[in-house]
Amino acid sequence: MYNDLKGKVAVVTGGSKGIGNAIARRLSEEKMKVVINYHSDKEGAEETVAELKKIGGEAVAVQADVSSEEGIQTLLDAAISNFGELDLWINNAGMENQVPTHELTLEDWNKVIDVNLTGVFLGSKAALNHFLEHDKKGNIINLSSVHERIPWPTFAHYSASKAGVKGFNETIALEYAHKGIRVNSIAPGAINTPINAEKFEDEKQKAATLKMIPLDYIGKPEEVAAAAAWLASDESSYVTGITLFVDGGMSLYPSFEKGEG
Ligand code: BGC
Repeated sequence: MYNDLKGKVAVVTGGSKGIGNAIARRLSEEKMKVVINYHSDKEGAEETVAELKKIGGEAVAVQADVSSEEGIQTLLDAAISNFGELDLWINNAGMENQVPTHELTLEDWNKVIDVNLTGVFLGSKAALNHFLEHDKKGNIINLSSVHERIPWPTFAHYSASKAGVKGFNETIALEYAHKGIRVNSIAPGAINTPINAEKFEDEKQKAATLKMIPLDYIGKPEEVAAAAAWLASDESSYVTGITLFVDGGMSLYPSFEKGEG
């Protein structure tokens, strides 16, 4: 538990399922007040809020498209009107689809960039303005991916968006460090979430993925949420501009593990 988080207010984008959901739950366990954003999974978000309230948490589910300024404004307004403050903004919402790059449509490219990168920009911008206006040492956490570093053929738009998040994360961390605002990324590897459900139901695909994970298992959303809670808390007070890889070692070039090369 991180006692300094108690009573603080967080916005988690894409919080109805997967990693975002685990983060929202963990922050609620830390006694934070949480705005749980969803795009289309109203049920998932509202069920989570109901469950959290039952155990004494304070949370609200809010529909919004993170790739639009209005959507982001709705989330900020929800934090202020429900909980009177904003301390932490987590840009988690993301999407991916697999297409060979020579067949990738501009529409698909734009969709992924809009949510994964423009959404991070718009969310961060809203949070930064709030922090600056209120002279607040706020905190921003971006959910990136191992693919901000590892090339991922047939996911060029996704990889490009996450590499963009890395550049953006480091740049604004530097730009606002003097204000005491911290900005960090988390780069999950293969995690057991709805985005991966179909892939990991296929035993062959799962085995292929496991081969790339030195710790030998698919990660749990809670393991990513633990990293988010740490980055949110004062326990990481001297940390800004990093990407914290939560990937079971996936980014360590596992194909070299027997000394090949
Ligand atoms: C993707 C997952 C993938 C993992 C490792 C993540 O960024 O969302 O679908 O399994 O990277 O490749």
